Parts: sequence; C-alpha cells; structure tokens
Amino acid sequence: MSLLVVSPGKDPKAWVEALKEQHPGLNIYVYPEDHDKEEVEFALTWNHPRGIFQNYPNLKVIASMGAGVDHITSDEELPENVKITKVVDERLEEDMGTFVLSLVLAHQRNLLHYRESQINEKWDPISYTRNNDVKVGILGIGNLGQSVANSLLKNGFQVIGFSNHKKEFENVESFAGEDELDDFLAQSDILVNMLPLTPKTEKILNKELFEKLPEGAYVVNVARGEHLVEQDLLAKVDDGHLSGAALDVFWEEPIRDEHPFWKHPKIRVTPHIASVTHPNSVVPQIIENYERLQEDEELKNVVERDRGY
Ligand code: OXD
Repeated sequence: MSLLVVSPGKDPKAWVEALKEQHPGLNIYVYPEDHDKEEVEFALTWNHPRGIFQNYPNLKVIASMGAGVDHITSDEELPENVKITKVVDERLEEDMGTFVLSLVLAHQRNLLHYRESQINEKWDPISYTRNNDVKVGILGIGNLGQSVANSLLKNGFQVIGFSNHKKEFENVESFAGEDELDDFLAQSDILVNMLPLTPKTEKILNKELFEKLPEGAYVVNVARGEHLVEQDLLAKVDDGHLSGAALDVFWEEPIRDEHPFWKHPKIRVTPHIASVTHPNSVVPQIIENYERLQEDEELKNVVERDRGY
C-alpha cells in the first residue's frame, strides 16, 4: 500500500520529509510523478486537480492537509465509499484563537484608526468600548470556534455561539438551528464566521444577514471567501450599518490588483494566515490513520460526506 501526496500550489516537501521521518518505511508518491495507481490506498491532499481520484481503483482514504475539507468535497467526481478526513490539531486551534483575538482587540481599540492618524501625523484620540460590554458571536462553533471562544472569554468578552445542533461550552450561550439564527445575529456586536463551506453556507454572509446584526457591528471572516458576498459587505460598510470587517479568506486568493478591499479604510485584509497547518504537528495523525486503515480499525476525524464537514 502507498500514500499519495497531491498538493498543487502547496510545496509538498515539508510534508514528505515529515512523513519519511516519522514513518521511515512508508512508500510515498508525490503527484504527478510516475506511480502505480493501483497501489495507492491513502491520499494526502490540498486542492487536488478535479476528478483525478477516479483513477485510483483501490483508494480508501482522502486526508485533507488542513482543517477544511471543502477543497475535497467540492469535487463532483469523487469516488463513492472513499472516506474523507480532516485535521484536528491543538496548534491550529491555538493559532486561530490568538489570531481572532488580535483582530477583535485591534477593532475594539481602534488600531486601524490610529494607524491612519499616524500616517497623517494627526493626534486623534477617540472613545472605545470595554471588552466586557461587547458580545462576540461565533457563527459555526466547533473545535476551532471553541478555542476562539476561550481566548475571547479570557479577555473579558461575552461570547455566544451558533451551530446546527446545540453545543455546550462553558460560559458560551449556545444558539442552534435556523429558528435561533436571527436572535443570535441580533446580539452579535462582532460576528466571527467559522462555518464550514458547503452548498448551504456559500454566500451566507450577505446583505440580509448583515442587516440582522446590530447597527455598527463588525464582521470577521476566517472561514472561506465563498461565504461572503463581497459587494454586500462593501455596501453595508459604506452605508455605515457595519463599522468594518477583517477578512482573511477570499473568493480568489491572492485578491486581484485593484480589488476594492485593498485600499478600503474600514476593511482589514490578511493573506489566509489565521492558522496555518504545520506538517510536523499534523503528520502523526495522518500516520495514525494510515496505520488504522492497514489494521482495519476505525479512522479518526472522519467527516460526514453528505453534510460536507
Ligand atoms: C484550513 C485552512 O482549512 O488553512 O486548514 O484554511
């Protein structure tokens, strides 16, 4: 049995090195080098070319190199009965927690405003709201969302969470299901999108949703660019209903030259950097699943294909 690494656009070198170091006997192929397709039962991937997995008759597992699996599930030619796994990693969770906290604090303490006034050599103090007067709503609260909630709670913010099914997290009021979405939105002074990308959640950050947020709300998107209707965000920031946004993910990455987000004074752009998978930290769970597959044992971190996460 062999493991195939498929990651066009992402250098596989560090992954292959970590795999070899942590499992010296492993037979690894890197797509598209010459290899025997029948031998491959396990693929480790990020943004594979659409349709290729149809050519692997013995493929059993497609493992994502990251927490998201939309780059796999969006392939309409995925073979039936192949299991898909995602990364669950403490390091990713911690990094997501600290990154969102920095964005929220930077907004809360008006750091963009001060950067602007510094550039203009202007001494311009403005008032600020204290953390414990601010409610942050985490849209799509799961492992990563829980870590974000903990970072925020430690810094005095109030936190509420929305998910498909009610989840119990200490000190986080939980909202679940479509019936409770409006109530959740109405209370979110800062909305942090952490939803998985599925056909149901694509374009969910739109005008209608923004209008349900309190006047002056701030939006953070650290999930996927495809959740956001960009024109709706621009319109709602420009008409003052939203105070601004911090965006780490985009429909097209990198965003094109001249994109209106680049120079918008109320929109912060970061280059998909919220929490970056580190091969050395993630490879042990890939190897564990590879061995579980060989032993015919249940795999860890399997996603529900129908649900898409
Ligand atoms: C991920 C990502 O899904 O980096 O891990 O976006």
